[in-house]
Amino acid sequence: MKKWICCCLIMVSGCQSFGSLEQERKPSEPPAQVEQTAPSSEIKEQEELVLEERFWNQIEVQNGVKVIVNPDNVLALVNKEQQLPADYKPTDLVIPNVPFTFKETNVEKRHMRAEAAKALEAMFVAAKNQQIILYAVSGYRSYERQQQLFASEVQRLGGEKAVVAVAMPGKSEHQTGLAMDITSPSVQYAITPAFGETAEGKWVAQHAHEFGFIIRYPKGKEHITKYQYEPWHLRYVGVKAAKVIYEKQITLEEYFQIVKKI
Ligand code: DAL
Ligand code: ZN
Repeated sequence: MKKWICCCLIMVSGCQSFGSLEQERKPSEPPAQVEQTAPSSEIKEQEELVLEERFWNQIEVQNGVKVIVNPDNVLALVNKEQQLPADYKPTDLVIPNVPFTFKETNVEKRHMRAEAAKALEAMFVAAKNQQIILYAVSGYRSYERQQQLFASEVQRLGGEKAVVAVAMPGKSEHQTGLAMDITSPSVQYAITPAFGETAEGKWVAQHAHEFGFIIRYPKGKEHITKYQYEPWHLRYVGVKAAKVIYEKQITLEEYFQIVKKI
């Protein structure tokens, strides 16, 4: 990393004090200073790559399991290594005003945390303005609901396939209220990797970060995320982190490797 000397004072005489220099300089002469600043792009990158302490996981090991004890953090890193408390439920869940693939109205999967819901609405409107039609499929899920989903996936596909497709209870981002699975009519409203090849999936991959979302389980990063490619699973992280993750084409795990805690 480059170090920048913001203000470099060139001393014309090594043995003179500041006081004597000041006295010798004529009032009209500018001080003998050379300003050296980093190019604005590098300053911007440095600013983008710092992250306040409150956005990092606080972990407590409970019965040998790493539990995130600040789960309200919008940048919570939930994965196979670090999980949410079983009783965690966000307190600000709302229903985003977007089309869903199902009719039931007051169900838990319609919900997201308020900030994420607002961002999702903005993204769906921007998409629609470009003739990109999106539908929401599944948002917030309780620990218990994730437990049911995982168990039925094990029954359906067997344990080996289930673990790369569905998170175990406590290890799903859906429990944070910051994730939403989405689809489009072009794939018959299905949750399928083929969504990534559609105009809608491509638009989402290119624009989600503008609204603070990332494709959490990208293609080619399965060895890092430990999940299969999921072009439909959007995770809200806020615009600042989403932009870095998009521009560097990295995962949330890798983001935490490159940012500096302040
Ligand atoms: N499909 C993702 C990994 C989940 O179940 O949370
Ligand atoms: Zn999902």
